[in-house]
Amino acid sequence: MKIDIGIDKSQREAIAGGLSRVLADSYTLYLKTHNFHWNVTGPMFQTLHLMFETQYNELALAVDLVAERIRALGVVAPGTYKQFVQLSAIKEEDGVPEAHDMIRRLVEGHETVARTAREVFKAADAASDQPTCDLLTQRMQVHEKTAWMLRSLLE
Ligand SMILES: [Fe+2]
Repeated sequence: MKIDIGIDKSQREAIAGGLSRVLADSYTLYLKTHNFHWNVTGPMFQTLHLMFETQYNELALAVDLVAERIRALGVVAPGTYKQFVQLSAIKEEDGVPEAHDMIRRLVEGHETVARTAREVFKAADAASDQPTCDLLTQRMQVHEKTAWMLRSLLE
């Protein structure tokens, strides 16, 4: 059946394309955070191991909401590592960074998702796509708050 929600096809496709970038950023950050949960060492081990767990669990739930919004707009959601590497603005890690560098990389990751979400918001807003605007607003809120919390560990 045709989709008739008051947003034309080209706008739905443009928004879904933007959301695919948010999804790829979020999935890459999810894996990076889980990786750091596994491999962190040092005197902050307990704090960081648990903090990273809270963060990757939140990201695991978030990627589902983003992907399902893409589907609701009538577009196929990317779901392979190959696509995520192409779409994501967040780079994967080589090797295991030292604990403070893990924190820095995660701050950068959360800031990157916030920037991508903020950019995509404009297209959603222009098309009166309030559900996507709402989702992106919530994601920006989480990523900016998490970036602040991580940044605070470095001061
Ligand atoms: Fe674990």
